[in-house]
Amino acid sequence: LVDGRNLLVVSNREPYQHRYRDDGKGIVVDEPVGGLTAGLDRVMQRTGGTWVAWGDGDADPEVVNTANCVGVPPDDPKYTLKRVWLGEQEMREYYYGFSNQVLWPLCHDLVGKAKFEGSFWKRYQAVNETFVDIVADRADDDTVVWFQDYHLALAPRLAREKLPKATFLQFWHIPWPAWDTFRVCPQRQELLEGLLGNDLLGFHIERYCQHFLDCVENCLDGATVDRETGEVHYDGRTTRVAAFPMTVDADRIERLSGVDDDFWPAFKRKHGIGEETKVAVGVERLDYTKGIPERLEAFERFWEEHPEWQGKLTYVQKASESRVEIPAYQELIGTVEEKIAHLNDRFGTDDWTPVVYIDETLPDEELYGLYRHSDLAVVTPIRDGMNLVAKEYVAAQTDGDGVLLLSDLAGADESLGDHALTVEPYDTAAFADQIEAALTMSPDERTRRMRLLREQVCGDDLDSWIRSLFGAVNALGKTIPAER
Ligand code: G6P
Repeated sequence: LVDGRNLLVVSNREPYQHRYRDDGKGIVVDEPVGGLTAGLDRVMQRTGGTWVAWGDGDADPEVVNTANCVGVPPDDPKYTLKRVWLGEQEMREYYYGFSNQVLWPLCHDLVGKAKFEGSFWKRYQAVNETFVDIVADRADDDTVVWFQDYHLALAPRLAREKLPKATFLQFWHIPWPAWDTFRVCPQRQELLEGLLGNDLLGFHIERYCQHFLDCVENCLDGATVDRETGEVHYDGRTTRVAAFPMTVDADRIERLSGVDDDFWPAFKRKHGIGEETKVAVGVERLDYTKGIPERLEAFERFWEEHPEWQGKLTYVQKASESRVEIPAYQELIGTVEEKIAHLNDRFGTDDWTPVVYIDETLPDEELYGLYRHSDLAVVTPIRDGMNLVAKEYVAAQTDGDGVLLLSDLAGADESLGDHALTVEPYDTAAFADQIEAALTMSPDERTRRMRLLREQVCGDDLDSWIRSLFGAVNALGKTIPAER
């Protein structure tokens, strides 16, 4: 509670997960991978309040109090994490089902991967109601409830029925597709109506806002849309839709990237990377939207066409398994492993491994150290709401001379595209050319581009994101907790 107002963040994924150690001796705390939890945790550490999320760690139930709450971060609590328990069936149909096999592919324009099953939708409705019951227990008219992402599209409208005067906002962390894609979804109307329960609905970039407004105009009879203000009037109420490009905690990344001077030589030795070898890095969840197979194709083409770079460039792919119960994600693991084995087999020598694959979790200092020392970052999703890895890489470039290769299909392209090397991920030949261009770029050009990228990322960091989002809430005529 700050200034008598209560901030309640509600998301599917929790920021801290308690897990029993593999050897059975005690409990460890994991911070799940993904931009949402990492970014929001920093926000909550500044504002305080309560975060409601699915407790999916096996040791989560053991560490909570009788209200299912625990103070986090665990070693220096700054806010309350309230856990929601979901059963097997709920996980299968709400999380793996409607959220990740309907909304995720649909919003990323990959309709062919969507699986529309009636049971998914019913469970999605039920779980949204479960979250809303918890919100209603903890909120009153003075509460600002901040829903996150596509798992909770129905919650705002349901919550509004219970708490007509509270303030509801939602940030949608993934793209919003064009009407022609969204209209494929049988539940399009309910989803739009659910989201219009919010006072404020935020997307990463303006294009997603316009797509959302197009969907409202085409789908909802009686809705009026004001394109100038981004306001939607529907069913007697108003929702403002606006873009708030999310960014990263640049200060923290800068600081941690330089903590350990010995890290880089040790990392190179551990992975058999020669002292003089250049390093390209890619970091992501193993998700089909991230364009990993397409990228490996481009590296193959690059080494084929530029044999002079065989032995002189290693690509480090840091990947974490994700949503593994979904067949498309399992297939992706197989494809990536095969492709890497093929590349290493085709080009590798006794002294050089073309692609180094890392699937272990790296502590933040090592991850940011890896960014800092890599000569180039290859961030080439086939569709991405924003992509915070691109911004993390830039924030970690304290020496100012790395090169960012960035897909024009990532939201981050809007703000970073002018100074990154742009990649069209499906155009293998041009992609390979861009890898070469990055490696042969003059030092002056590298530092010029990185300086401009750093002005964007470091000048516009997480604090300004919070300020503009909360500023928009204040402009609605309702106040929001000030920073501590
Ligand atoms: C994306 C989504 C987040 C999600 C994250 C990790 O960033 O926008 O909502 O938390 O992926 O995915 P997961 O399914 O593991 O939560």
